[in-house]
Amino acid sequence: MQSTPINTHSLLKLIKERRTCYQFLDSKIHPIDSIELQNCLQAAIWAPNHKLTQPWRFYIAGENLKNQLAEVYADNRAKKKTQSDPSCYQSFYEKALQKFRAIPQVILVGQVIVEDPIVRQEDYAACACAIQNFHLMAWQQNMGMQWSTGPIINDSRTYKLLNIEPENIQLIGALYLGKIEENCQPKIPPKRKPIEEVTIYFE
Ligand SMILES: Cc1cc2nc3c(=O)[nH]c(=O)nc-3n(C[C@H](O)[C@H](O)[C@H](O)COP(=O)(O)O)c2cc1C
Repeated sequence: MQSTPINTHSLLKLIKERRTCYQFLDSKIHPIDSIELQNCLQAAIWAPNHKLTQPWRFYIAGENLKNQLAEVYADNRAKKKTQSDPSCYQSFYEKALQKFRAIPQVILVGQVIVEDPIVRQEDYAACACAIQNFHLMAWQQNMGMQWSTGPIINDSRTYKLLNIEPENIQLIGALYLGKIEENCQPKIPPKRKPIEEVTIYFE
């Protein structure tokens, strides 16, 4: 049983109001405190994980790594956007580079890979729980986040930059994090199906 009861209403409010965010405040004016980041990591590592495998690894990018990842991101994005007209590559590349560099904090999440397919599946689930815990703690501290599974997490250049091998550690997400305006909400309101539509009760 939990030692400090959390108000049911405030917990549900946090869970329901957490959103995926794409726009962040300028990190020079609104920096992320290292304690705030530690709180997110603390929340993450207390996620449930079967057999206590603790399969998550977090790679916290400093400016140097972020700039290198920005090049990988920009190359992938520009290639995708200019498939039909490669002559526009450079302008898309530059734009994407700036966009990535403006992300206040980039964190890559890896899953330690084991041979057993069942454990591997459970480990992915545990990592997802960890990311959700991280996201909720970020939101609680006025930070927004996007969990991205975009091309940089499958790019061999990213693995090289992190000095890891995909056979041993598989990247499962790039977390883009930053301070946000209070009550920041996406342009398209989030939707969920009502409980009745997704729940089947049995006697
Ligand atoms: C496994 C996973 C992968 C995701 N990958 C992406 C992604 O690559 N790009 C993106 O914009 N959002 C990504 N998202 C965020 C979802 O699009 C987002 O959760 C969904 O739109 C619902 O919005 P909400 O998080 O605000 O409730 C991902 C979410 C999950 C759980």
